[in-house]
Amino acid sequence: MTAEIIDGKAFAANLRASIAEDVAAFRDAAGRTPGLAVVLVGDDPASAVYVRNKGRATREAGMESLEHRLPGSAGQDELIALVEQLNADPTVDGILVQLPLPGQIDERAVVAAIDPDKDVDGLTTTNAGRLANNMDGLAPCTPLGCIMLLKDQLGELKGLEAVVIGRSILVGKPMAQLLLAENCTVTIAHSKTRGLADVVRRADIVVAAIGIPHMVKGDWIKPGATVIDVGINRTADGLVGDVDFAAAASHVAAITPVPGGVGPMTIACLLANTLTAAKRREG
Ligand code: GUN
Repeated sequence: MTAEIIDGKAFAANLRASIAEDVAAFRDAAGRTPGLAVVLVGDDPASAVYVRNKGRATREAGMESLEHRLPGSAGQDELIALVEQLNADPTVDGILVQLPLPGQIDERAVVAAIDPDKDVDGLTTTNAGRLANNMDGLAPCTPLGCIMLLKDQLGELKGLEAVVIGRSILVGKPMAQLLLAENCTVTIAHSKTRGLADVVRRADIVVAAIGIPHMVKGDWIKPGATVIDVGINRTADGLVGDVDFAAAASHVAAITPVPGGVGPMTIACLLANTLTAAKRREG
């Protein structure tokens, strides 16, 4: 069996085109343009690239992109004051504070200052609680993108065994909640899990979000499973995922490549969340 390669890049391009159409309809109906504010503190080169890409994608979707930059020496109070100003700004529908923040700033305190209804990263405890309680909120972009790819690939997810490897606030935990909401049987595995290979072998759906190159071996994965690889690891061989792609691709049903799988979905879902937030704010 040869695996189907899940083309996240093409899926994300279609999603962005459809969001652009919805943005145009929103503008006609509401008489204003949805706005996403992105805050970058310091000059970490990788973060600067992410922020630039987010700004470009936002404008391409027909939305307003507002970039705010603070020096790496900025204090926590200054950053929280900016977040509060964006909370109060009626032209801002979404707020994203690019992480990581410099060491002198408590990330939790900054995230907690974001209005949950503008929290397009889905990082506030309010949105985590809404997700856990099946209430309408804003879910983190990467797991949202993974669920879209899985539903497109498999249709109904009900009753499937899903194993999520990784328990981060940004990916692992919300991924598990979203799979549970689709009626999967969900296991969250992590670095302290005993017999990880055998846990993964149960899965119809494997979501790998650990951040260790090629950690998940091909023979850990059941033949016919669907594999979503969230890892983006820079190695001497270029970008690689958390799954040993070549070994898995020989017997799984479908797998996301790295790059070109989950990565492009994250920005597309950020745009989707911004539009969702704008629609809710209009009532
Ligand atoms: N840094 C790396 N990924 C992310 C993300 O999804 N959101 C934010 N705010 N910062 C990040």
